[in-house]
Formats: sequence, structure tokens, C-alpha cells
Amino acid sequence: MSRFWSPLVHRLTPYVPGEQPRIANLIKLNTNELPYGPSPRALAALRAAADDTLRLYPDPEALALRTALGQRVGLDAAHVFVGNGSDEVLAHAFQAFFSHGEPVLFADVTYSFYKVYCGLYSLPYRLVPLDDGMRVQVEDYAGPCGGVVLANPNAPTGMALDLDTIRRLLEQHPDRVVLVDEAYVDFGAQSAAGLVREYPNLLVVQTFSKSRALAGLRVGFAYGQPELIEGLTRIKDSFNSYPLDRLAQAGALASVEDEVWLAQCVERVIDSRERLSAGLVEHGFDVLPSCANFVYTRHPNREAAELAARLREKAIIVRHLKGERTEAWLRITVGTDAQCQALLDALREILHRNS
Ligand SMILES: Cc1ncc(COP(=O)(O)O)c(C=O)c1O
Repeated sequence: MSRFWSPLVHRLTPYVPGEQPRIANLIKLNTNELPYGPSPRALAALRAAADDTLRLYPDPEALALRTALGQRVGLDAAHVFVGNGSDEVLAHAFQAFFSHGEPVLFADVTYSFYKVYCGLYSLPYRLVPLDDGMRVQVEDYAGPCGGVVLANPNAPTGMALDLDTIRRLLEQHPDRVVLVDEAYVDFGAQSAAGLVREYPNLLVVQTFSKSRALAGLRVGFAYGQPELIEGLTRIKDSFNSYPLDRLAQAGALASVEDEVWLAQCVERVIDSRERLSAGLVEHGFDVLPSCANFVYTRHPNREAAELAARLREKAIIVRHLKGERTEAWLRITVGTDAQCQALLDALREILHRNS
């Protein structure tokens, strides 16, 4: 509290990111980072870009990167926006598209930053409950609204909708932006990027932080028709014209050009995810079918908070989200096979000791 704060700052409830502890030999399965490094080509490009050209401002339009991102899905640079992590892209989208006096709709269990953006930009919102199976039912999103935000796959559940269902959502709201947050799409869901030319109300947001192992570089992007991209650019250029520095642009571009690395990493994560899910089921856990690089799981007769605390004592951290509907669940990032096995061994010991 401070008398220097504006009323808005007093009212804010900021997002709390997953912790990044400085503990040696920690098995860190709490923030959905990739357990493998970025593309070696991206690392080489970063090193090469660290030269005396850093005295110059970067390209404010990040044209080379936007062109490459467009090409991979049959779009051009005018359909692509880039920002400092997809969090920044999301923030700009909330400010650019959702202020219509009616509530923005998103799931009651989803990425908790959406509420924070509504607070920041004074946007009313309505939480739409997931069904009893923790699935999104798009029929529940009908009716007047300021816009719709859908994480696909959803976080923290990991469950995904198919493209026909996304089409239904887009057709329900032809005069409102439907934002599909595809942070985890590469791990097994269908991307809506191919629908961009067909639907002027669609904005698809993706990130380099997960499948491309570049969370530390902070690069996110969006696909949409040029009208939407221009709206985002107007916000960007009223806020920070250079959200992506020279290193970020160079590293991200080389990462986009290395689709082989991406495919290899994704395949390894999917294999480990299936083994991890099966191992959890063997230990008596319920596991939701995941299309992401994490699994959402609960034990029928163990408290999730207690399990998370016991794991932490063994230097393994997973994410437990407080809240009525999430209290019983743990979100566990898919690590390497060795990390997943260490988690399963630790759980076996904890369950055995307390039984
Ligand atoms: C659903 C979802 N969207 C967006 C983000 C933001 O990612 P970044 O800002 O690193 O691109 C995250 C991060 O965990 C996420 O889970």
C-alpha cells in the first residue's frame, strides 16, 4: 500500500508465476518448461548475434521472424504479430479487442493470467465452468459477450478441443474476437492457425517457451487477419516499439528454421508423457488425457497439497493450484524419462509410507 499508487494499482491482483527456486539437483516439474535445450541452431544464432550490432535498435517490425512464422502455416507477415512472450501478446489482445461492455468469457479452470489482464484493463469477465469431466463445452459460451478466450490444449487440464468444435465457437461469435491460446499445441493438439484466413474473428496465440525450449528468451506470437494484427500493433507501438531485442529475433528465427529439432523434442515428450501417465495410473491416480507437456492428476484418497509437500522434501516440485475445483489436483510437467521415473519412485514411497 502506498499513497503514491493509483486506484488501479491498489485494486490489482497480480499473477503469481510458478516458482524458480535456486536449489541444487532439483527435479523441476512445476512450470512446463522443456527438459531438453533449445535447437543448437538457435543457440548458434544467439551467439552470432551477440556482437557490436547490439548498439543498434532491433527491427521494430521483426519482419524476418514474422515472415518465417507465417510461412510455416501458409500465411504472410501481415498475419503475424510477435511479442515479449505470449503473455505480452495476450495482454495486448485483451486491451485491443475485449472492451465492449460485456463480459469476456473463459473457463473457470484455465490459465490464471486471463483474470489478471481483465483486472488490469478493467474488463468484466464471466467464468464458464468446465463440465464434470473437466472438459470445455462450447455451447456454454453462447450469448452476448466481450470476447472469448480458450486455451487449447487447456492448462492445467491438458485436454484439447478439435477444430470442428473451435469452428462452432467462432461461428457463435462472428462479431467478437475468439482468442485461442495454443501455448501447448505442439504436444498433440490441432492448431487453429489454418482457420485464420476463413475467420476474421480468430486470433491464435503461440509461444517459443514450451515446445521450442526458449522460455528464457521471451518470444510469443499470434496469427490473425491483418485487421487484428494491426490492432495489436497499434497497442504495441503505444507501449514499446521494440519488444523483441536483436538476440530474441535471431534466436527465434533460427528456432523456427529448425523444425526437425522441434519434432524430435516433441516426440520425446509425448513418449515420456504416456509412460508417466501409465505409471501414475498404476499408483492409483486418475490422470486426464493430456495433449500437452504436463499431466493433470489426482489421487482418490490423498490430499494433493500434502503430496506436493512430501515431493518437495525429496527435491521434486510440481504445481498445486489452490481453488475449489483444483484443490484435489496436481499438475506435473513431463520431464526426462529419468525425472519422471524419480517422481514415480518418490510417489510410491510416499504412498507406501502413509498407507
Ligand atoms: C496457457 C498459457 N498461455 C500462455 C503462457 C505464457 O507463456 P509465455 O509468456 O512464456 O509465452 C503460459 C505459460 O505458462 C500458459 O500456460
